[in-house]
Order: sequence, then structure tokens, then C-alpha cells
Amino acid sequence: MKTLLTDRPAWKSLSEHHKEIEKLHLRELFAEDGNRGEQFTAEAAGLFLDYSKNRVTETTLKLLLQLAQECNLRTKMDAMFSGEKINATENRAVLHVALRAPRDAVIKVDGKNVVPEVHAVLDRMADFSNRVRKGDWKGHTGKRIRSVVNIGIGGSDLGPVMAYEALKHYSDRALTFRFVSNVDGIDFVEATRELDPAETLFIVSSKTFTTLETMTNAQTARDWLLSGLGGDRSAVAKHFVAVSTNAEKVSAFGIDTANMFGFWDWVGGRYSMDSAIGLSTMLAIGPDNFRALLKGFHEMDEHFLTAPFERNLPVLLGLLAVWYTDFFDAQTIAVLPYEQYLKRFPAYLQQLTMESNGKHVTLDGQQVNYDTGPIFWGEPGTNGQHSFYQLIHQGTRLIPCDFIGFGQAMTPLGRHHDMLLANVFAQAEALAFGKTAEQVKAEGTADWLVPHRVFEGNRPSNVILTERLTPEVLGKLVALYEHSVFTQGVIWNVNPFDQWGVELGKALAQRIVPELESPTEPALNHDSSTNNLIRRYRAMRTRT
Ligand code: F6P
Repeated sequence: MKTLLTDRPAWKSLSEHHKEIEKLHLRELFAEDGNRGEQFTAEAAGLFLDYSKNRVTETTLKLLLQLAQECNLRTKMDAMFSGEKINATENRAVLHVALRAPRDAVIKVDGKNVVPEVHAVLDRMADFSNRVRKGDWKGHTGKRIRSVVNIGIGGSDLGPVMAYEALKHYSDRALTFRFVSNVDGIDFVEATRELDPAETLFIVSSKTFTTLETMTNAQTARDWLLSGLGGDRSAVAKHFVAVSTNAEKVSAFGIDTANMFGFWDWVGGRYSMDSAIGLSTMLAIGPDNFRALLKGFHEMDEHFLTAPFERNLPVLLGLLAVWYTDFFDAQTIAVLPYEQYLKRFPAYLQQLTMESNGKHVTLDGQQVNYDTGPIFWGEPGTNGQHSFYQLIHQGTRLIPCDFIGFGQAMTPLGRHHDMLLANVFAQAEALAFGKTAEQVKAEGTADWLVPHRVFEGNRPSNVILTERLTPEVLGKLVALYEHSVFTQGVIWNVNPFDQWGVELGKALAQRIVPELESPTEPALNHDSSTNNLIRRYRAMRTRT
């Protein structure tokens, strides 16, 4: 008989403990312990985590760490890192950590060391990237490549686009990068509007090479290219490369598998930005910077694997997420990077966190009786401050926040960076400590206005501070969240590595497409709402 999470001693103690400290204010916690701002911090791989502004005491941390032990986090980490098939519902190993392992590492899947293959692909990617970047790889008409369009969706898009934006500072500005993901044709039209087919390289990125959106966009790209280059089919070889695990489908599409960069079924889509799916990233920032990115990932992997839990950044972040989700009923977590280059980081994290832990059954197929994966969202600072922060400060919901700040601006500009960082510190301070009615009154505020101007405070946040947004640091940040997601998944006993929840919609869409396109009125057997919507759409569609 498996022990339910809610029956674990640490869980029960946490429930009791929560009742005791629920009302405790961060003001009191800081007043009690003048050292809290130094004590409740951890630092690793150059990332500094201040978690002092969380609604936790030493007892809370002790119990959360006990929960991690009771849930066998250490054993589960070891199982992942050693290539066990922990993705049970798909019978797969989960080895994104092998993608950034050093050349001499040995990580086995089914008895075979996968690290040499990983490096062989990286070397091919580097060779290809160098040829494109130097202008040695020529298009069909002999012109060099000046534009790269990544076609992919989900993990085959969000990682590449996030990394491209995050590391733009390091990118070759002579090359233009575009990302097409949506099956909405506008995405393709706008991405290619002013591109010259003779100078454009398409990377079709799809683990399965069957995804509707990607295949539709790839077909459209091929038509666009061929019509722009006079219809000679041999042009495809010079303008299309593929990143996939499915050589058969790549070749059926018409891309020479010599121009394919592979990866493996043990890499989940949302964990693949450091595999060949990162080809566009490597083209943009160059192989050396890409390897620095991998080095950063690896450093965080090592930290996660070896550091004691009480100093382990991903473990701490993961346990805090569990604490708020399950004991404070927090529905969401906001990730707020104060770095414009990280503008797509929250969107990237949404897939990583929610496709991973958005599960309602345990690994054994039991319905959970506790909340799992919180909703992750966010925007870069300071923009969010002038939009949704009002609700975080004075609304009725508890929204734990992760602030991410950097010591150095990528391109220093007057006083901008000091102002930016002043806002990070000010927001975390305001959320934690707020402003009491007495303070508001003391400012001479009219009595009737006082309640409106009171800030309750006691709103938790983490601050992650690091020196500079280098490729290495980006790798560390992504791995930090990957392993935090893993930690949460272990506590909740769900499988963070499958995504069956996306299948039904895909299958239904495939059924509906012919019903929309049918020249004659199709017999519809959906519910009355779906039938009605389809009929209305068909009527609109034929009128235009
Ligand atoms: O949306 C489901 C999903 O399978 C994601 O997990 C994945 O990242 C995305 O679709 C794209 O899949 P593929 O790389 O196979 O095209």
C-alpha cells in the first residue's frame, strides 16, 4: 500500500504548523530576527537566492526538508541522473542533464553511454553554424544565408525564441532570426514578409515531425521558397534543415537526413532547448557561447545533484512552491525578470512548469487530494508594475513572486540600471512589509481614504540576484527552474515528463478540419454547441 502524500508525517506536521504561523506577519519575522535577511539566503553557481521574504520560519523549512526526505527526493534525483525510465507513462528515461554533460561523462540508457552521441551532434551543429555564420553555406542561387527562420511549436519554439531574445546581446546582428509557431497563417506571413528566399534558411524543429502546426508551416515555407526561387525542388536541400528524433518523417518531408540534427526520446520537448532544438540559438550566438550556455546548465545540474537540500537552490524553490500551493492555497506564481532581454522567460517557464506538473493523478494513477502545478505567469519589470502589480499588492489573492535581477546592465545607459534594480528591491520590500494604517494616517491622509492606501504586506517573494546575463547564467537559470519543477513533481508524486493532456484537443481538431473544409454540408456528430459553431464558421467562411 503506497503512502499518500497527505498521510506523510511531514505533511501532517506542515498542516498543523501552517495553522500556527498563517497569521504571522513578515514584519514580525524580520523584527524577531535581525539577521533574517542574511540567514534565509543561499548561493550557488553564482546565483544568489534571498528567500527571507517568504512566510516561513526555521520550523517550516525543517518540515519542508523532511517532506522532501519522506518523498525520497534524493533517490528520485539519482534515478533521473542515472538514466532510469522515470517517465513511466511513456517508458522513457529523462535525461536532459545528459545534453549538457561534459564529453568525458558516462550516462547510460539501456546500457549504452549516450554522451558521445550528444557531443557528436553538438559538433555537427557547431560545424554547420560556423559555415552559415561565415557565409560558406550558400543558398540555391549561391547567395549567403542572411535570415534564419525556426519553425516549431511548444518546446521546439519557446526555448529557441526565449534563448534568442535572452542572448541577443551576443548574437550576430548580420543575421536576422524569426520564429514561426502558430498555425495562424499570419505568423508565417509576418515572419517572412521582407525576407529574400535566396538568403533564407528554414530550421524545421519538431521532435515528432508530425505536429500539425509545424508541418503546416513547413509545407507553407517550402511553397514560399520554391515559388520565390523558380520552383526548382533541389533548392530545398540548401534552404531547409531539420531538428528531430524522426528521421523517417524528415526524409518523407523532403529534407535530406544529412541536413538533419537528431536528438532522442529521452529529451522532453520542454527540456530540449539545449539539444539540437537549440540550433537557431547556436547560429545566433555561435558555438562557443552555446557551449558556455551548456556549461551553465551543467553547473546547476551538479549543484542540484550534490548540494545538501537546505542549501540547494532548486530544492528550496520547489519546496516553497509546494508550501504556497498546498498550504496557502496560492493558485499562481509570478516570475518577474528585471531584464528586458528575459522578456520571453515567463512564457518559456509556462510550458516548463505547467505542461510538467499540470497533472491530477499520481504516478500510480490515483486522483490527488491536494493541488499540484501552480499557474506560472509574468512580465519583465518594470512594465508589470504599471499593470498587474496592483492586484499583487492590494488584491485578495496571495501571489508568491520570483524577482530576477542582475548586478550589471548588458549595455549600461546612464542611471537606468540603478533605477531598474531599485524597483526590484522596492517591490519585494513593499510586498513584504506593506504600509500600516498608522503609517498612512501619520502622512496626514484623510480618515476615509486610509483603508484604500493601506498595504497589508505579508506577500511573499524570492529575489534571485546574479551578476550579468551571460549564456552561462541563462543555462543556470533555466536548469534552476527545471529542477525546481522536478522537486515539485516528486513531492506531488506526479509524472512531470508526459503531457497526455494536450492529446484530446489535437485529435478533435484533426477530426474537425475536414468538417470545416468539406465542400458539401458535413454530418456533424459533436455536441450541439460545437455543431452550431462549426455551421456558423462554415457560413462565414463561404461568404468571404
Ligand atoms: O503540445 C504538446 C507538445 O507535444 C509539446 O510537449 C512539445 O514541445 C510540442 O508539442 C511540439 O512537439 P514537437 O517537437 O514534436 O513538434
